[in-house]
Amino acid sequence: MCGIIGYVGSENSVPIIVDGLKKLEYRGYDSAGIAVYGDEGFGVIKKKGRLTELEAVLNKNPFTSHMGIGHTRWATHGEPSDINSHPHLGSRNKIAIVHNGIIENYKELKERLERKGVTFASQTDSEVIAQLAELYYNGDIIDTVIKVSAHLEGSYALGIMCLDDPDNLIAVKKDNPLIVGISEHGNFIASDVPAILSHTNKVYYLSDNEITVLRKGGVEFFNSDKEPISKTLETINWSLDSAEKGGYQHFMLKEIMEQPKVLRDTLSSALLSGENKNIIDSIDISKFNKIAITACGSAYNAGVVSKYVFERLCRFSSIEVELASEFRYKDAVIDENTLVILISQSGETADTIAALRESKARGSVTLAIVNVVGSTIAKEADYTIFTAAGPEIAVATTKAFSTQLALLYVLAVKFGCKLGKIPPDMESSLIAELNTIPEKISAIFEHVDYIQKYASACISYKNIFFIGRNIDYAIALEGSLKLKEISYTHSEAYAGGELKHGPISLVEENTLVVTLSSCGRLFSKIFSNAEQVISRGAKVLFVGNACEVETSDKVSLIKLPGIHELFSPSLSVVVLQLFSYYVAANKGLDIDKPRNLAKSVTVE
Ligand code: AGP
Repeated sequence: MCGIIGYVGSENSVPIIVDGLKKLEYRGYDSAGIAVYGDEGFGVIKKKGRLTELEAVLNKNPFTSHMGIGHTRWATHGEPSDINSHPHLGSRNKIAIVHNGIIENYKELKERLERKGVTFASQTDSEVIAQLAELYYNGDIIDTVIKVSAHLEGSYALGIMCLDDPDNLIAVKKDNPLIVGISEHGNFIASDVPAILSHTNKVYYLSDNEITVLRKGGVEFFNSDKEPISKTLETINWSLDSAEKGGYQHFMLKEIMEQPKVLRDTLSSALLSGENKNIIDSIDISKFNKIAITACGSAYNAGVVSKYVFERLCRFSSIEVELASEFRYKDAVIDENTLVILISQSGETADTIAALRESKARGSVTLAIVNVVGSTIAKEADYTIFTAAGPEIAVATTKAFSTQLALLYVLAVKFGCKLGKIPPDMESSLIAELNTIPEKISAIFEHVDYIQKYASACISYKNIFFIGRNIDYAIALEGSLKLKEISYTHSEAYAGGELKHGPISLVEENTLVVTLSSCGRLFSKIFSNAEQVISRGAKVLFVGNACEVETSDKVSLIKLPGIHELFSPSLSVVVLQLFSYYVAANKGLDIDKPRNLAKSVTVE
């Protein structure tokens, strides 16, 4: 849940590292730090708080160096503080490290080191790596890294500098992402592509237990037996612009607005030609008797929506959707006849990775829907199809969610056809409907002013509920999550029919109930639920295309373009995203980096 970057080359590493950390701040932002190589020792600055705090200190104490490492932190062990920030140095100031991950056996290692007289400066798990490295250092930094890695349990992506080694920057990883970028003026390590995209789009993806040694003029790779290995250089096709705000106040708004384009790209990758299409076409769904869908957070919500779609279009006997954090420990009833679908923007979510490994261990076939190429889930799943969302920087997912839904829809349609549940004419009409989603989202954008105005009047609500029935309920879950994560407004999502079984006792004057209503056949039912809350003093905002309601001071309506009911979540969610965005914006909150959250949840 942290971001790391390192550089060695002919330029001053300090601005390169700071700029890279800005692009990685979404991974954690409670503190940041930098260490650069210097003849007299490492120059180190670490600051609690946002990156701007670190920058302010750096501006007062400018230094230059050809090599350095930087870190932006999301605390796991030890509170956010200057001292707990990375980089961490061994007590002899000989080795400096930055770490993304968790060292599970750090207590045991720390006690062993303390018994040998090592004094720790921080409360972090990460410092044991620097201390251990100094203990084992025998003049050969690669040997040292191999020996240290053998003692570490848990996950790590590490950037390492050794004071005896002015030319080499070392990195190693296990279960956390790390890329190696190469450019004319120098070479990089980073947790993610946007951090180095302004310098290069040529990258290597480091695999678990591989070690890389970077110097100004080249990069080498070794396995854990110190044998040289060769790797494939990949070209990233993201534009720099896609990793910048492009004039929007927040990445989240920019990413919401990008949805028509990225949906078009994703749909064509799955329907027209390319690897996604090939993979989807190659899966023989008839050999499975169960589909198990698992993911976390919004990706899980996409899975919940898709369950309704798979059930309706495939009439499959057994379709389950489960939070990955539960799936991994539940002793799931899955086997080689189960297709496990894993959904993840980052491809690095710890629980989803664990669910993937558990599924494979039980012989199930795994199909991952992932945004980040080269990520752990993308590499480990039997099949991986990619959302063409491009880099998603805002912590609250929008375009990645929408593109996940799009791929799930395509899977459901294609599987339904293969299973003989969808006749060919229905297939083409469903695909035609799917292809209207981008333009219909653009049509929703014409109502942004209304949504903004409506949201600005909602900032004082203490509680906001989201209700819906059937697939409207599924998307209500995402509306509620979006609102709470960025606006800090308490919110819950309920199936409309459940209200009277308990939740309605929460409804009082000044409660807002957002009522999703795109399921035409159930409109009268959800309308009754809305009337029940209105009569108890609540205000209702209807969002949907199936609703014909008279608006009043208690009742408002955002009418959506018509679309097949099963695909309506793709339209509703855009209104819900914009609503959450503008509630948070009107509260003046830090929308792209909500408190306590990080983009990539690489720890349990
Ligand atoms: C949603 O806005 C969140 N940021 C979060 O729920 C996210 O969807 C979840 O952590 C899963 O992440 P992943 O898609 O990268 O696996």
